[in-house]
Amino acid sequence: MTTRPIRIAPSILSADFARLGAEIEAIDKAGADYIHVDVMDGHFVPNITFGATVMASVRKLTTKPFDVHLMIAPADPYLADFARAGADIITVHAEAGPHLHRSLQAIKAAGKKAGVALNPATPVSALEHVIDNIDLLLIMSVNPGFGGQSFIPAALTKLAQANALIGARPIDLEVDGGITPENAGAAAKAGCNVFVAGSSIYGGNDPATYAPRIAALRAAATL
Ligand code: DX5
Ligand code: ZN
Repeated sequence: MTTRPIRIAPSILSADFARLGAEIEAIDKAGADYIHVDVMDGHFVPNITFGATVMASVRKLTTKPFDVHLMIAPADPYLADFARAGADIITVHAEAGPHLHRSLQAIKAAGKKAGVALNPATPVSALEHVIDNIDLLLIMSVNPGFGGQSFIPAALTKLAQANALIGARPIDLEVDGGITPENAGAAAKAGCNVFVAGSSIYGGNDPATYAPRIAALRAAATL
């Protein structure tokens, strides 16, 4: 459990890309706290989405923070691009390169909040020595690359460990992958306060469903 504010972060990975702008406006209106932007390179993960140019073109449609999840390796050459494109939080994977500390310095130097994501097999202890350099810690509860996968229960243990490592620091603890109203409560109990959800918000791509789905996740996460 956490005293940090609960935030719901719909992932535009599951948006209808033919109507991407309208899909972002719709989740903004429906009560999203963050807009979660999944960037994939077909190299670090086995799927390709979009880059900073597409992101920049939709940035002006909402004032909500852009929570940019970079599933790319290397990440460093692109950090400035995503900062310029309007990212508010830039998250890199701990597994994406040998110099995580340098990546975090570069994100901060660009004036953005810095996040680190951990794949399911990477221990929380990997962040012990950079915990004071981050604003967001993202526990992956699926193997990154695709929406619509099932939540990996071991993520709950990792969330609790991450919560203990964070302690009283003002760091968002985020979970990403397979999040539904059925498991959001358990994640919240483990200390999570930012809930990424792709298919459980955007599934079916009917804007009329977005507000009740965001509300259901928020209710489940509010202990
Ligand atoms: C997975 C992405 C997630 C994805 C979540 O690699 O990082 O953000 O969109 O989608 P769901 O909620 O459908 O698991
Ligand atoms: Zn993501």
